Amino acid sequence: MKIAILASEGAPYIKSGGLGDVMEALPAALSRIEGNEVALILPYYKKILDNPAFETELVAQFHVALGWRQQYTGVHKLKNRTDGVQVYFLDNLYYFGGREGAPYGHGDDGERYAYFAKACLDALVSIDFIPDVIQCNDWQTALVPVFLKSQYYPFFPNTRCMFTIHNIEYQGWADSDFFDDVLGLPWTYRERLDMDGAVNMMKGAIECADLVTTVSESYAKELMLPYYAHGLSSVLAGNAGKLTGITNGIDVNTFNPETDAALPAHYNAETFTEGKAACKAALQKEVGLPVRADAPLMVMVTRLAGHKGLDLLCHIARRLLWEEDCQLLILGTGESHYENFFRSLQQEFPQKVAAKITFDLKLASRIYAGGDIYLMPSKSEPCGLSQMNAMRYGTVPVVHATGGLRDTVPPVDEDGQGGLGFTFQSYNADDFLGALKRCLNLYNNKKDSFRTLQKIDMQQDFSWDKPAARYMALFQKMLKG
Ligand code: GLC
Repeated sequence: MKIAILASEGAPYIKSGGLGDVMEALPAALSRIEGNEVALILPYYKKILDNPAFETELVAQFHVALGWRQQYTGVHKLKNRTDGVQVYFLDNLYYFGGREGAPYGHGDDGERYAYFAKACLDALVSIDFIPDVIQCNDWQTALVPVFLKSQYYPFFPNTRCMFTIHNIEYQGWADSDFFDDVLGLPWTYRERLDMDGAVNMMKGAIECADLVTTVSESYAKELMLPYYAHGLSSVLAGNAGKLTGITNGIDVNTFNPETDAALPAHYNAETFTEGKAACKAALQKEVGLPVRADAPLMVMVTRLAGHKGLDLLCHIARRLLWEEDCQLLILGTGESHYENFFRSLQQEFPQKVAAKITFDLKLASRIYAGGDIYLMPSKSEPCGLSQMNAMRYGTVPVVHATGGLRDTVPPVDEDGQGGLGFTFQSYNADDFLGALKRCLNLYNNKKDSFRTLQKIDMQQDFSWDKPAARYMALFQKMLKG
C-alpha cells in the first residue's frame, strides 16, 4: 500500500511534543510492513535547514495558489534515511525556513499551515507519489481532506484520507475572511468549516475525512463529551461512525534502557535492580539532590501546561513534602506561574526538590531511568507517551485515569497487584495524594512487591507493532468503502 503521512513535526528532525514522537515511530512501523511504501512530508523549518545532519536534494519546485497568492515551494528529499521511509521537506522561506524559534505560535499560523496542507497535495502530484491513503495529523494538516475533496479530487481519484486527532485543544481557528482570502474554496464548503461564524479547520477535517482517529480508545469515547471536546463534541457525535481510537505505542528502540546512550548504566527487566540504582544515584548527583538510595524519587517530565494536572500537584506539594521522606524532580518548561512555583518549591525544600526548567531530551531519559515513581495527573490526556517511557524504564506510574492514561495504566491494588500503576478516578488533589501515598507505601514498606511491579511494567509490549496493524486495518477499510 502507498501511504503518505503529513504532519507539522516529526522527530528526529523537529519535535515540540508527543506528535513529533509519533511521527518518528508510526511511519517507520508502517514501512516495516511488507508491501508498504511510506512517504512522510514535513515543513522545511529553519532548524532542519540549518542542521548539517539532514542532507537533502531538491526534487521538485512549483507555486501554490493560496487565494490571490502564489507561493513558491521546493520539495527537498532527505538523502540519508535508512529505514525505507521517504522523507520530504517543503521549502518556503517566508512561511518556514526564514523564521527563528518554535514551529508554532506565529501570528499567521493559520495561513502558514493552510499553505502547507495545499503544498503537500501539490508535492505528491509533482513527485508522482499518488498514495492509496493519506494520513494527516492535528489542525496543522486539517485542511488536507478539505482540499482533497473540494479541489484535488481529479489528481487523487482513488486516494482515501484519514485525519488523526492528537490534541483537540488546538483547532485552527480563523476569521471568516480567511475562507475567501486564503483558502479560496468553493462556497459549498463554507458550512463544513463554519463554527460560530468563524473558520474552524479541525471541524472541516472531521467533516471531510473518510475516517477520523484519535490516539487512545478511551479518549475516542471522551471526545463525545463537551468536557473534553473543546466545542467539537457535537461535530464528533455527528461523525461518530467515522471515529476510532488507536492507542499509540512508543519507539522501543529509542526508549530502551539496555542501549540508551544518555544513561550512565544499562539494564533490562532482569538486571534493573542494580542498573536503576546506579542511574538513580547519578541522577540525584546531576540535579543536586542528596544521593540517597532509600528515599523514593518521584519524577515528572512534562510541558508545564494546565491540562497536565499541575494544579493538583501544586495543591498537595507542600503537604506531601512535609509528611513524606521523599524527593521530587520536575523537568519541563511552560506557563510561567508553574515555572515559578517549582523554582520556589526547590528553594523552600532544597534537600527534597529539584526543578529543571528546561527542555532536555537526554536528561529526560536519565529521569525515566533514575526515577522510582512517575507522576502524570493530567486533567485530560489523549494518549500520553511518557507514562509508557517511564514503565519501559521500570518507573512506576501514578496517573489520573483519563484518556490514554486509563488505557495504558490499568490500576493495581494496595499490594501493587493486578495492573501496571496507581490511578485515581476523579480529578481532585486529595485523590491524587491518596494514590501517591499508596504508591509510596508500597515503595517504603513492601519492597519486593514494588520490585515485582517494576519488572511487570518493564515487560510490557509498548511497541508500535500492534497500533500499526490497527492503522493498516483502518486503511483497508477506507479503501473498501
Ligand atoms: C499530544 C497529546 C498526547 C499524545 C501525543 C501523541 O501531544 O497531548 O496525549 O500522546 O499527542 O499522540
